[in-house]
Amino acid sequence: MASFLFLPLLSLALFLSLTSAARNLQPRMHVTAPIPLIQQVCKATRFPDTCQATLAGLVTDPNTTPIQAIQSAIQVSTDGVHTAQKMVKAILDSSAGNQHRTTAANNCLDDLGNSRYRISLATDNLSRGSIKNSRASMSAALLYQYECWSGLKYGNDTQMVNETMSFLDSLVGKSSNALSMMYSYDNFGNDTKFWAQPKTERDGFWERVEGRGSGQGVRGGVPSNLTADVTVCKEKTEKCYRTVQRAVNAAPDNPGEKKFVIRIKAGVYDEIVRVPLEKRNVVFLGDGIGKTVITGSLNVGLPGISTYNSATVGVLGDGFMASGLTIQNTAGPDVHQAVAFRSDSDLSVIENCEFLGNQDTLYAHGNRQFYKSCNIQGNVDFIFGNSAAVFQDCNILIRPRQLNPEIGGSSTVTAHGRTDPAQSTGFVFQNCLINGTEEFMKLNQNNPEVHKSYLGRPWKEYSRTVFINCTMEALLSPDGWMTWSEDFALSTLFYGEFGNSGAGSDFSKRVPFSSKIPSEHVNTYSVQNFIQGNEWIST
Ligand SMILES: *[C@@H]1O[C@H](CO)[C@@H](O)[C@H](O)[C@H]1NC(C)=O
Ligand SMILES: *[C@@H]1O[C@H](CO)[C@@H](O)[C@H](O)[C@H]1NC(C)=O
Ligand SMILES: *[C@@H]1O[C@H](CO)[C@@H](O)[C@H](O)[C@H]1NC(C)=O
Ligand SMILES: *[C@@H]1O[C@H](CO)[C@@H](O)[C@H](O)[C@H]1NC(C)=O
Ligand SMILES: *[C@@H]1O[C@H](CO)[C@@H](O)[C@H](O)[C@H]1NC(C)=O
Ligand SMILES: *[C@@H]1O[C@H](CO)[C@@H](O)[C@H](O)[C@H]1NC(C)=O
Ligand SMILES: *[C@@H]1O[C@H](CO)[C@@H](O)[C@H](O)[C@H]1NC(C)=O
Repeated sequence: MASFLFLPLLSLALFLSLTSAARNLQPRMHVTAPIPLIQQVCKATRFPDTCQATLAGLVTDPNTTPIQAIQSAIQVSTDGVHTAQKMVKAILDSSAGNQHRTTAANNCLDDLGNSRYRISLATDNLSRGSIKNSRASMSAALLYQYECWSGLKYGNDTQMVNETMSFLDSLVGKSSNALSMMYSYDNFGNDTKFWAQPKTERDGFWERVEGRGSGQGVRGGVPSNLTADVTVCKEKTEKCYRTVQRAVNAAPDNPGEKKFVIRIKAGVYDEIVRVPLEKRNVVFLGDGIGKTVITGSLNVGLPGISTYNSATVGVLGDGFMASGLTIQNTAGPDVHQAVAFRSDSDLSVIENCEFLGNQDTLYAHGNRQFYKSCNIQGNVDFIFGNSAAVFQDCNILIRPRQLNPEIGGSSTVTAHGRTDPAQSTGFVFQNCLINGTEEFMKLNQNNPEVHKSYLGRPWKEYSRTVFINCTMEALLSPDGWMTWSEDFALSTLFYGEFGNSGAGSDFSKRVPFSSKIPSEHVNTYSVQNFIQGNEWIST
């Protein structure tokens, strides 16, 4: 065996030295003619050959600006989504009676619709010079394309699905290319000679940020002067909506900047609530945690229910706000994925809210979200998704697993799902407490070996999560972070810690794939730099 292995290695080494020799020669060969723009911009991407092939017919004018080149790359993605929508529609039309495939195709169509919307925002913001907004939207557009592909796996039993999946796979690559160019533009501006494949903190690269800022930065939240447009209540005598969903339905579609404020009076609302994409700027104002409660129990064990669809409250519309309420999923600890709150709302502010569940409690799915002074409880991967979310002053509590909790098992606070190094997503915990519920702490104290808790594990390859200035109680396992599956993502993820305190914060026994954030780079994760909160969170 050994000699068989040796040969390919040798020829690989030979190949590498030959190609690097060729690379060294290149500048001299091209010394007279400047490298064409298309090659310059494509060197920012992870799939430069695809990039050059797709842009070949589109970027021909030698005076094309870098921004115009990025716009062309985005156009390729738009066209691809359009084709994918037709393909998935055809799958849906041919899948009557097949529940798995029908569910997968319907979810996929939703994903593609969301992707198109985000691409249009990315295009508009790019031409207005707002690269941060543009990149945030394109990060989400890529997420939805990936999810469409990923969801089809559950219905991949026909040639048509198989072909659609290969198409989506190539579309994800093309969109990644557009996003990588945005990354380079964001960091190096118009000077395309500096453009290069996206690097992450794990490569020792910290992205360019505005100023150094001071510590915690933005500390705003839900404005205190909001007044109710409509009310939801339980009292039969009062004039009010009886369900939260009916009040949401009453909100205007595609409104301007004005908030639509729904006061939800104390009571238990047993319903599934959806805030669709066109209902922007909806606000839920409850009477307090534990007083206003929205409760559901959907879970993946039920026919036609995916993790995404299991949410008790699911929000797509941008600018969503909530304060003073509890949202829970009571499916229980034995049923696997059962989401309490899922959000794709860009520029969303959640304050003084409580999220209760077990596995997958809070699905911070996509876009930019700010959580302040919230209580979040669960056990397995209970804060997860591929958004850029900041959690400030939150209480994160681990709950017991299983109906027979003595059996124990490992719990993980987070499972961030970034799939591409150019996505501007990640989870930031600032000034939070990591502890267990009283019930969990009793179990943990009796038998710490079987009730282990971790800060997170990598759901996807470029998972990114940081804890800054947090209090970590002793329940946290000294190694801190867990693997997903063998060595998956361990060399590409970024798990950072800075300024934490408490018995669980000791860094000396941490896994080798976690990092201390250098103090000069902590500012990367401020509310301002990470989610541009200074532009949209009121103080
Ligand atoms: C720019 O992006 C922001 C955040 O996604 C969005 O609210 C806004 O509508 C976008 N602007 C344009 C002109 O599309
Ligand atoms: C799936 O599609 C790929 C690429 O189009 C093709 O090579 C492969 O044979 C297909 N497999 C099945 C089982 O249809
Ligand atoms: C779909 O399933 C077929 C048969 O199991 C498999 O060969 C193919 O790789 C799958 N397609 C994708 C894109 O995963
Ligand atoms: C890049 O050049 C365009 C003009 O082509 C200009 O509008 C833009 O501000 C420049 N970007 C940066 C980051 O300097
Ligand atoms: C961390 O906490 C210290 C002390 O309270 C504060 O001065 C600093 O600004 C905080 N830093 C961050 C990044 O939150
Ligand atoms: C609430 O206060 C903000 C400033 O904090 C102001 O811009 C806004 O107009 C006020 N809204 C109402 C409804 O008074
Ligand atoms: C953590 O939880 C335990 C048990 O409920 C409690 O005694 C302890 O005070 C909590 N720690 C913090 C910092 O609140």
